[in-house]
Amino acid sequence: TSNGLILGIETSCDDTAVGLVDERGQVVASAVASQVLIHNRYGGVYPEVASRAHIDKIIPTVRMVLEDSGVNPRELEAIGVTRGPGLIGSLMVGLDTASGLAAGWGVPIVGVNHLRGHLRSADLEEQRVEFPAMILLVSGGHTLLARMNGPSDIKLIGNTLDDSVGEAYDKVSRMLGLGYPGGPVVDRMAGAGIPNIPFPRPVINHGLDFSFSGLKSAVMRYLEAEKGWKVEDVAASFVAACMDVLIAKCRRALATYPSSSLVIVGGVAASPPLRAAAAQLCDEAGVRLCLPPLKWSTDNGAMIAMAAWDYLASDNHTPVQPQTSLTIES
Ligand code: KG4
Ligand code: ZN
Repeated sequence: TSNGLILGIETSCDDTAVGLVDERGQVVASAVASQVLIHNRYGGVYPEVASRAHIDKIIPTVRMVLEDSGVNPRELEAIGVTRGPGLIGSLMVGLDTASGLAAGWGVPIVGVNHLRGHLRSADLEEQRVEFPAMILLVSGGHTLLARMNGPSDIKLIGNTLDDSVGEAYDKVSRMLGLGYPGGPVVDRMAGAGIPNIPFPRPVINHGLDFSFSGLKSAVMRYLEAEKGWKVEDVAASFVAACMDVLIAKCRRALATYPSSSLVIVGGVAASPPLRAAAAQLCDEAGVRLCLPPLKWSTDNGAMIAMAAWDYLASDNHTPVQPQTSLTIES
């Protein structure tokens, strides 16, 4: 007998996350052990430290979700576990733990592409996405555009050629002495500044790919070369460049692939300037803007369970081994 639930396990970066989700995307329980307080003293995620923290947290987090929900794990439909892309040591902790639990409980296990989890996260708890949809994923690890015609019909149409936008925020934050994570504090500073520095907008005029490393370097060169700058103005100018690029790419993507909804997920979806600019774009384009709750937009176990249901439905099982490539395929 099955209880109709999948347990999702996510350890690809700096969150140890577990979620329990039914076939319609209802979240029965979810827990996330964040490592932000551990990594903020390094100004970024320190891979070896991340792996060790996952080892400490993974079993307590699984236990918390099982106790919250009161389910019998031997009756799970499956365990879904992130196989990549991500930090290899961190991924191994999730994969090994999930494999052991699956063997011990006698339930199937499905390897899940982390990005497929993000792309499906917008339909957790309630169905928000109207297909065909355009998805902008903007997190610390990723910046990409994907076209979705249905839950398993996903095509990657744009990706970053180097850094993610969240990474650029975090690095600029560090240069300005504002700490980690950079997003919220850089946005706050930007709100009090004037965007009067002409930072570059890399590859804004063609294609759907992104590049943020040149912008990051331009900020660094500016800080070294100039004197008497105001943190607020540098932040405002940096944020303006990021927003111009993100919105230009979304506009081009919607023009190329007519869509019913634009979905924005990932930690940078919390950004007030991004939310405001996206609302304006969607008004103009006559597209429904979908900003799911942040707890499902940032790394969590529920989205991995949600995507695992899609893999089961499409009979498209992937091996329970780390995925070393950075693609969305498989
Ligand atoms: O999705 P997420 O929580 O973790 C990853 O999977 O990477 O994204 C974290 C990223 C960090 O780079 C952080 O600086 C950024 O999201 N972030 C923001 C804001 N809040 C978090 N960026 C811009 N504005 C924010 N308010
Ligand atoms: Zn992620």
